Amino acid sequence: MRNVLITGGAGFIGSNFIRYLLNHDAAEKLVNLDALTYAGHLENLVDIQSDSRYLFIQGDIRNRPLLDALFAEHELDTVVNFAAETHVDRSIEDPALFLNVNVGGTQTLLEAALQHWRLKPDDKHCREYRRGCGFLQVSTDEVYGSLPPAAPSFREDSPLKPNSPYSASKASADQFVRAYHQTYGLPCSISRCCNNFGPYQFPEKLIPLMILNALADKPLPLYGDGLQIRDWLYVEDQCSALKAILDNGQFGDIYNIGATNEFSNLEIVRMILHELGKPESLIEHVVDRPGHDRRYALDNSRITNELGWRPAHTFRKALKATIDWYLNNHTWVEQMTNTSYQDYYARMYAADTP
Ligand SMILES: NC(=O)c1ccc[n+]([C@@H]2O[C@H](COP(=O)([O-])OP(=O)(O)OC[C@H]3O[C@@H](n4cnc5c(N)ncnc54)[C@H](O)[C@@H]3O)[C@@H](O)[C@H]2O)c1
Repeated sequence: MRNVLITGGAGFIGSNFIRYLLNHDAAEKLVNLDALTYAGHLENLVDIQSDSRYLFIQGDIRNRPLLDALFAEHELDTVVNFAAETHVDRSIEDPALFLNVNVGGTQTLLEAALQHWRLKPDDKHCREYRRGCGFLQVSTDEVYGSLPPAAPSFREDSPLKPNSPYSASKASADQFVRAYHQTYGLPCSISRCCNNFGPYQFPEKLIPLMILNALADKPLPLYGDGLQIRDWLYVEDQCSALKAILDNGQFGDIYNIGATNEFSNLEIVRMILHELGKPESLIEHVVDRPGHDRRYALDNSRITNELGWRPAHTFRKALKATIDWYLNNHTWVEQMTNTSYQDYYARMYAADTP
């Protein structure tokens, strides 16, 4: 039985994870702390909002007094930190925000966990913590940087070479998590996952963007030649991996969560068009994103060998299920693609063809 703080739980993966834990775990309490930025939506959680084990608090992970109150009131023993600014394009527009939220927010959370879990909070040499406590930082494969076409996949000990302000902020946050473990003995682990897709993903990301544009017969804006390769994991498999780490992972360890589903963006877009019966002429190549990484791929042998985790979904079936979900959830889509999203879209892709 755990009392879990889930930060960023109104976003894409966080909301799926809350639903997953409620269905698969005896967690005593799930407290979802989310600032409800443009990416956070309580509409992602309507089906579980009245579950007695679940509580939503609107707030910022950088708000230390709020964190202290939540740790004390709910006797939190587990933190899963999803909260972050997550879109690479937005990080190119406003890197300072990413530094502030992703690094500053993670450090504030670590400090709150340290103060509340340490057996002797005032003794800076104390490395003993309340039993059963643990901090899981949800990170990304993007911290490793870009991989040449034939190079072997990134392992957990591969060097960090982030290329975007987003990945630099996530890599920095990971280093703070490591430092809190090394310096203070705080029970922490890190997951680094490949690209996720599935229900409730905000339409600015590749797969939902392309599904929704194809459905509306709008051009599908594809960066550069579209040959950037990503490894794709269905979000429910990311949730089962995170639960495996919470249940059996070692503190101080990093776990890559890869799917070995490598596809170029162009291949993904073609699959979506084919599934929807739409013509490839809808594809519109736009000027590439600055510093766009060519390839990510993860070696997931640690999580498979040590924790026995395997993805349960095949890529094609999961993509079809995702497309069906977007087809069947018009109201959600309308709520997400409101005026401010349309303004953002116009800014990002207007007059952007090479
Ligand atoms: N989506 C992916 O493919 C992917 C892959 C690997 C890792 N990740 C990581 O997983 C996590 C979740 O990703 P996602 O795609 O669900 O993101 P998302 O953008 O959908 O959700 C982020 C959530 O964090 C909240 N948030 C932002 N700033 C906050 C703050 N200061 N305080 C509290 N809440 C705040 C937002 O309101 C939103 O609900 C991120 O840390 C991301 O780096 C994502």
